[in-house]
Amino acid sequence: MTADRIALIELADMIYDYCGIDYRKNLSSLESKIAEKLKELGLSIWEYCGYLKMEPKEWDGLIELITVNETYFFREENLLEEFQKVILPKYADRTPENPLRIWSAACSTGEEPYTIGMLVEESSLFKAGAVQIIATDINKKALNTAKSGLYEKKSLSFRRMPVEAYDKFFIELEEDYKVKDSIREMVDFRHMNLLDNNIIGKIEKSDIIFCRNVLIYFDNNAIRKIINAFYDILKPGGYLFLGHAETITGMHTGFETIHTPSVYYYRKGGKHYAAVRRASG
Ligand SMILES: C[S@@+](CC[C@H](N)C(=O)[O-])C[C@H]1O[C@@H](n2cnc3c(N)ncnc32)[C@H](O)[C@@H]1O
Repeated sequence: MTADRIALIELADMIYDYCGIDYRKNLSSLESKIAEKLKELGLSIWEYCGYLKMEPKEWDGLIELITVNETYFFREENLLEEFQKVILPKYADRTPENPLRIWSAACSTGEEPYTIGMLVEESSLFKAGAVQIIATDINKKALNTAKSGLYEKKSLSFRRMPVEAYDKFFIELEEDYKVKDSIREMVDFRHMNLLDNNIIGKIEKSDIIFCRNVLIYFDNNAIRKIINAFYDILKPGGYLFLGHAETITGMHTGFETIHTPSVYYYRKGGKHYAAVRRASG
């Protein structure tokens, strides 16, 4: 095995430990993603591993290269319809003093939490301040775009957007659409690594968690760690929405699966489920 190959394995291990993203079986993809960066820094892969250890801030730059940030407004409409028509009305008694708290746990450039905000506003069930959306991601650059609320008119973010949503939820600028303030004010963007050991102390207890199209990048150990943290952060009876290609059914996580003819999602059970989770380690 060449020295570069050994160093690449070391880097993939470091990435897995840092954020759960699993490049260990996809080394050539990792190699091509960092090639330009190494050239720019004039470092070998081995030297880059050392650099990451000495300069923890360098992780932000690496994260920008290795995360997949693809997202768009109104993604997976069947699930969103279930959320708006079936789940939101259950919380219609929430007030600014006792708000409905929704966490978008890997929000990328913001399209998901803003879509949630749009569905909340459209439902007309809540007063201003009665719904708080916390939106987190590990990629700081993506979060900066999210915070700006600006999306280029020609961007793929709008690929599934219903036509009527432009007027309802955006202000048209010369080259961009800007998310309206009433929606932006609902969302609190924060930097967060889902594999952080102290995640539970960093997020307020929530009623609903969206974590879509992220678990596909993790192995079962990382998924279990994240799902257990979600279980603790959710209030009893709270809901978890994953992407349509992601499932935790059969993992004995303590969540019950809710099936409808078009979607499935998860609900935090009561004491019985907590016992099941403890028993399954
Ligand atoms: C494909 S996007 C999904 C965005 C959105 N949830 C959706 O479904 O449209 C995946 C996001 O997960 C984020 N991510 C990957 N690993 C993460 C980690 N360990 N902690 C927090 N976010 C992570 C990436 O930065 C990226 O923005």
